[in-house]
Amino acid sequence: MRSLHLIVFIIISLLVKASKSDDGFCSAPSIDEKTKPIYWKVTNPTLSPSHLQGFQIFSYYHTNVLFSSCHSVSCRIGTNTLGAYLITPAMGSHFVMYFAKMKGMSSSGLPPKNIERLVFVVEGAVTLTNTSCSSQKLTVDSYAYLPPNFYHSLDCVESATLVVFERRYEHLGSHTTEFIVGSTDKQPLLETPGEVFELRKLLPASLAYDFNIHIMDFQPGEFLNVKEVHFNQHGLLLLEGQGLYRLGDNWYPVEAGDVIWMAPFVPQWYAALGKTRSRYLLYKDVNRNPL
Ligand SMILES: *[C@@H]1O[C@H](CO)[C@@H](O)[C@H](O)[C@H]1NC(C)=O
Repeated sequence: MRSLHLIVFIIISLLVKASKSDDGFCSAPSIDEKTKPIYWKVTNPTLSPSHLQGFQIFSYYHTNVLFSSCHSVSCRIGTNTLGAYLITPAMGSHFVMYFAKMKGMSSSGLPPKNIERLVFVVEGAVTLTNTSCSSQKLTVDSYAYLPPNFYHSLDCVESATLVVFERRYEHLGSHTTEFIVGSTDKQPLLETPGEVFELRKLLPASLAYDFNIHIMDFQPGEFLNVKEVHFNQHGLLLLEGQGLYRLGDNWYPVEAGDVIWMAPFVPQWYAALGKTRSRYLLYKDVNRNPL
């Protein structure tokens, strides 16, 4: 009888816990496993293990932080659109990375003057309209690169979550970047000498572009052969799976939905340890003299 009470108590506690949610980035409505969108954990991070729940910051040299994306610090960035800034120059980066949560009948604002933008759809769908009033639908895994001062509008009828990168475009000679729309699966797999992970890049490698976004896939058990140290900055979003990220001498268990800011010269290494593939999306500055 006593143990029955205990079991009932545990079940009630679990139900109370499961129903706890709010309207922001932390809501976790029940959803059928079969219809679950592929990046479910990214947009519903309350399903994280308890040690990663809530807003957490692990800092390393005060310049590198890793946190789970579940937090409520958001601000209005367009009509019916909230932004949750993850990485900003206040942390020492030269770019911003944020989630844009678009609700029904919402639309984006434009970035400030001379700022380039890349949007990647994590959940839902948006319609992108450019200066020629040509519209196209961006679904999960699609992205668009908007050159600096390129007029555009992102509109959403139902709901969508985008991860957005913006930085002040650094001109080089007479090179100019172009408006690009694409999707991850249409990008070719690239050579990764000495490494086993699968690499795709969302932007051309040509000199005009001052950053790129890498999509890196690791099968369970795979890891980076090289522990890297370099001047480039990174903003990382773990899209699928889980593993162990090393930053300097700290080792962090990470899973889908976690974001990492890696300042220049942070020793970095990753091992995929989950039962399923790990996929992450990584900002990297390229093609410019660091001076
Ligand atoms: C607008 O998008 C359409 C479709 O992708 C493209 O053909 C057109 O060149 C774009 N216009 C501009 C000004 O980039």
